[in-house]
Amino acid sequence: MPEIHFNKEKGSELKLFTPGPVHVPERVLNEIAKPNDTHRSQPYSEMHQMATEGLQKLLYTKNECLIFTSSATGIMEACVRNLVKSDEKVVFLSIGAFGDRWYDIGVLNGKNAVKEGVEWGGAITPEFAQGIMEKDKYSVVCIQSNETSTGVYNIIDQVVPILKDYGALVCVDATSSMAGVKLEVDKLGIDVCLASVQKCFALPPGLAVCSISQDAIERTSQVKNRGFYFDFNILLKRNKLHQTPTTPPIPQIRGLVAQLDYILNNEGLEKRFERHTRLGKRTRMWVRDMNLEMFPIKEQFCSNTVSTMKNSLNIDFGKMVSMLLEKGYRIVNGYGSLKGKTFRIGHMGEITVKELEEMLKILTDIIAELRLNK
Ligand SMILES: Cc1ncc(COP(=O)(O)O)c(C=O)c1O
Repeated sequence: MPEIHFNKEKGSELKLFTPGPVHVPERVLNEIAKPNDTHRSQPYSEMHQMATEGLQKLLYTKNECLIFTSSATGIMEACVRNLVKSDEKVVFLSIGAFGDRWYDIGVLNGKNAVKEGVEWGGAITPEFAQGIMEKDKYSVVCIQSNETSTGVYNIIDQVVPILKDYGALVCVDATSSMAGVKLEVDKLGIDVCLASVQKCFALPPGLAVCSISQDAIERTSQVKNRGFYFDFNILLKRNKLHQTPTTPPIPQIRGLVAQLDYILNNEGLEKRFERHTRLGKRTRMWVRDMNLEMFPIKEQFCSNTVSTMKNSLNIDFGKMVSMLLEKGYRIVNGYGSLKGKTFRIGHMGEITVKELEEMLKILTDIIAELRLNK
């Protein structure tokens, strides 16, 4: 049994087909191991600027980009604290566990928060979005591009422009799609586009990033009680100097710069997006071959970075995950209330179609064994 316990000498040798954190390539680990100057030094500022300019290219935006010493949830909380005034309403368009979490963050911060959504497995359609915006006046809308619990990709390209037509600020949680799926921030008019880096960026956890529009910056100045650590204005002020207000994980930012350079100048954006499309497609081909069923209710809703499958074969997913683990691979059970009812395969970051196929072959044998012994 290779990887059940902490491996002090070698680190994990598991092959991760998870929806984050994902496998980090050796070249990135080597970058992260390099020594750095302090976070108030010129070399750091140069590195920070490379990171934010790289993010602008990745997101097709001229908007300023920020780096947070937190995971994505920190920026989700920042959106709520910075952008929602006490006399205004925020709506969370939820299609799964992470949409629900964002709504909870709104409520816990004492904001006038409303949750609207569709049955899990569904997506926010343009018609649904329009219906919600007609119903009430919302100054801020929060939505996931990719809902990692259900494996659904919202039709973000069509939905965001509708939300913008109603004059709302639109925050997009792109945690499990940024750097794997094309997100054209300026074209769509996304005000805050956020993600953590342990997913499609293929970096270790510990950093989150976002773009922020001029409208969102102006709104921030009008909102009271924004706190300190996640105050957009405080972050923006330091960002002008290519720094962060507090000590950031400098080695991680070195890793981010290296990975952005690789994505933009080595693999290339279009090729990277295309590879993720093929990974999603290949997984769905396997699902069909296995007589399994996708959790998303329509093929067009299926994510290309994480696939969620139903338990249509009625097998013990916990056991299946453990048996695959013994072969050196990790996939994951369903998230939260979907545990046992679904399982998920993450195909994001640096995974190749060939590597995915190798894992799926082994998983096929495991499923056959489980069915035989039922
Ligand atoms: C869509 C989505 N949003 C938010 C989060 C929370 O991210 P983090 O754990 O980086 O805070 C996740 C994590 O899986 C996610 O998939």
